[in-house]
Amino acid sequence: MPGVPFLDLKAQYAQIQDEVQAALAEVCESCRFVLGPFVEAFEADFSAYCEAEHCVAVNSGTSALHVALRCLGVGPGDEVITVPMTFVATTWAISYVGATPVFVDIDPATRTLDPGQVVAAITPRTKAILPVHLYGQPADLAPLIRIADAHGIPVVEDAAQAHGARCQGRRVGAIGRIGCFSFYPGKNLGAYGEGGALVTNDPAIAATARSLRDHGQRERYCHETVGYNYRMDAFQGAVLGIKLKRLDGWNAARRAHAAAYRRHLTDVPAVGAPIEPHYAESVYHLFVVELDDRDDAARQLAAAGIHTGLHYPVPVHLQPAYAHLGLGEGSFPAAEALARRCLSLPMFPELTDPQVATVCDGLASATAT
Ligand SMILES: Cc1ncc(COP(=O)(O)O)c(C=O)c1O
Repeated sequence: MPGVPFLDLKAQYAQIQDEVQAALAEVCESCRFVLGPFVEAFEADFSAYCEAEHCVAVNSGTSALHVALRCLGVGPGDEVITVPMTFVATTWAISYVGATPVFVDIDPATRTLDPGQVVAAITPRTKAILPVHLYGQPADLAPLIRIADAHGIPVVEDAAQAHGARCQGRRVGAIGRIGCFSFYPGKNLGAYGEGGALVTNDPAIAATARSLRDHGQRERYCHETVGYNYRMDAFQGAVLGIKLKRLDGWNAARRAHAAAYRRHLTDVPAVGAPIEPHYAESVYHLFVVELDDRDDAARQLAAAGIHTGLHYPVPVHLQPAYAHLGLGEGSFPAAEALARRCLSLPMFPELTDPQVATVCDGLASATAT
């Protein structure tokens, strides 16, 4: 049986190689290597794509989250509500500003922040709610924003995995006060290096974010606050602009592969496929199934040349870096169950139907014994 890679960035590069090389040469010739016209053009295109008024490009998704919390004035002694089932960068941003992450469990069906458990976690110190659109699937933002508005708390969307996803018909990112994206190479919209962005409809937040990413200056040589060097470089702006034009097509291909996986997996009862809730249009950054002995299945698939991933095997509250929070095993049962049972199947736009069938056949034989 032929193998199946988990991700194939070369297949995508082959489609855009000529355009990318021409754009990179143009950056070299312009000698505008940091921010500048290539990044500005991408910011304009990405804000339009996200149906947002403003986009501020930065050098990673982690930086975007950090700047977002700084823009909202979150600081020491404050609390930010988020999920324990995410990439740890979500909580790094909370820690960077000196605040404390307050975890709320996921809804096991959507695998995103459970709105039903949020009110109980709100305290007078809660300064933001930070849902994560995990695996490309939007969190249930409508009830979350209702609760947040009632308490006067801003919502920051971690959309690092969800470029182009829709929640009740709207693009994720600017549904909350600020949305944060990562352009790490394997993301649905991936740079050729590090990259990230914030989107918002609030002009004051956009202006503060622009200042913070560039050493805290709105005017040259006037550093009004402690800022960062979080600027995007022009090569990334140029590549992202080229790739953005193709993003909807690539996301549609991912959705078609997800549908094919679901069809095949109806014949593999030991494997639970993800559901797409009524409010959401997922962009399937990852296609994550659930099964009892996923380590054994992953081993058997690997032996057949089928590569899988784990997102994520250890929830954030059980990471050594957050041991000081004293949140042991059993604190967040839905997140912990998903961490134990999750297996990410190959998912990228250029995947083929026969490859999807190969993965599902592999899973069927791995779980038959
Ligand atoms: C959910 C989530 N949040 C934040 C990040 C951080 O993004 P970056 O790796 O660009 O810093 C990532 C990306 O890995 C992510 O998946």
